[in-house]
Amino acid sequence: MRIAIEDAEHVARIAGLRVGELHIDGLVRWTQERLQQLRLPGMEPYIELLGQNTPFGRQERERLLVQFTTGETYFFRDLGQIDLLSSTILPELIARRAEARTLRLWSAGCAAGEEAYSLAMLVDELAPSLTGWNVQILGTDINTQALERARRGEYRDWSFRTLDDARKQRYFRRHGDHWLVDQRLRDRVTFRSVDLVRDPFPDAATDLAEFDLILCRNVFIYLDSDATDRITSKFARALADGGHLMAGHNELFGHDTTPLRVRLYPQSAVYQRTTQPPVEVSPGAALAQVQAPTIATGRHAISIDRKPTLNEARAFSPPPPLKPRQDCAALMKQAWRHADGGMREAAEHDCHQVIAIADLDHHPYFLLAQLAQERGDVAQAKALLSKVLYLDPSFIAAYLELGGLHAQTGDDDRARRMYETVRSALAKLPPQTVIAPYDKSTAGEILGYIERLLAEPRPVPPPVATAISRAQPGA
Ligand SMILES: C[S@@+](CC[C@H](N)C(=O)[O-])C[C@H]1O[C@@H](n2cnc3c(N)ncnc32)[C@H](O)[C@@H]1O
Repeated sequence: MRIAIEDAEHVARIAGLRVGELHIDGLVRWTQERLQQLRLPGMEPYIELLGQNTPFGRQERERLLVQFTTGETYFFRDLGQIDLLSSTILPELIARRAEARTLRLWSAGCAAGEEAYSLAMLVDELAPSLTGWNVQILGTDINTQALERARRGEYRDWSFRTLDDARKQRYFRRHGDHWLVDQRLRDRVTFRSVDLVRDPFPDAATDLAEFDLILCRNVFIYLDSDATDRITSKFARALADGGHLMAGHNELFGHDTTPLRVRLYPQSAVYQRTTQPPVEVSPGAALAQVQAPTIATGRHAISIDRKPTLNEARAFSPPPPLKPRQDCAALMKQAWRHADGGMREAAEHDCHQVIAIADLDHHPYFLLAQLAQERGDVAQAKALLSKVLYLDPSFIAAYLELGGLHAQTGDDDRARRMYETVRSALAKLPPQTVIAPYDKSTAGEILGYIERLLAEPRPVPPPVATAISRAQPGA
């Protein structure tokens, strides 16, 4: 049976999934395949299954979300936020909890656990002041396979891309071709499945309540606005008094986060549940103050009880934790030069620096995907390209590269779908438009290339991308 776009949108809404214009065709096809695999006669029973609060309904939502999100993550992701946690938020929470001597931290949407273990490392570094405390760190995700990996605590080098060597040596030991998390950290962290959209919380019975800190980063980017609002409201109620919520940069700007108080730090916004009256500072004066270099240390914030204005939001996002934002373009140019000169490690290092400055910039992920392809790590390259598309669904080159990878791994249907998406996007552009980052190839030329591929029985591009040469921006 044919699935209408409205049906696919309904499917996405039930799971809270955000599906941009360029992903909707993929969701239509996916739904169609699921109906066939489940031998269902039509949409109605599928919608019914997807909405069920039964293990089957949950499994189906998991399958959908795993397909349309990525579990891309790594230790100490976003060094600005990590610095804010270790220099300010955690010490503040510890001071607040000095009497009760408990600390409850939740990494919500933790994928394979790197974020939860990063929290465990930060806590361990504050350990002298925490002897005799009951510190609980919970990592949750809807992806049960990722949670299994988190429980095993085995990580490959890729997860360490921004973690310094000293911490890697202190908290991990080599085990064959991967690294195993130290038992001290494992003892503090537990993992379990939670569907943030559908599972009820706060709920003392399931221990999803009274958190001092909730990290939910790079999850809302996959969710629609309603789901984001619902989850934020549940988080607000799941925080203890004085507790903080931290999301990825920009992820909650524009959303109503009341009753949480927004605290804007140079490194990031955080949202605090508090019954204390705010220290009143006029936002204009405070903004000027926070931007002054002398106090841009992560220890000072302005605190407001309303949604930040766009200008306030812009002033703080993305934050300048390590270097000024304009360095990103220069760093990316350098990264491409390194990649082109065969200096892969240097290129990767440049990309990670850009990510540390601007986590939501898609350019470094695109180059990292190319480098992964060159290493022959197709799975990693695919994950990175999917990330690029979530960050910028109009980035044609990523569809093109993904199409090539699917074709290369024998997934002709997916490859064809990627190429069809490219074809319809290119057809809307003037033929002379230059398509980034293929500096030397125009929309018309690439369209011709895609038409030829789609005319083949199998849409397999030449082994080396000769038709469209890898080009470097500004090279
Ligand atoms: C990119 S990872 C984020 C990992 C980590 N928080 C970080 O910032 O590096 C996004 C994760 O969100 C999870 N996710 C998406 N929707 C979810 C939901 N409704 N409930 C729980 N987890 C969800 C995905 O399974 C995926 O593992």
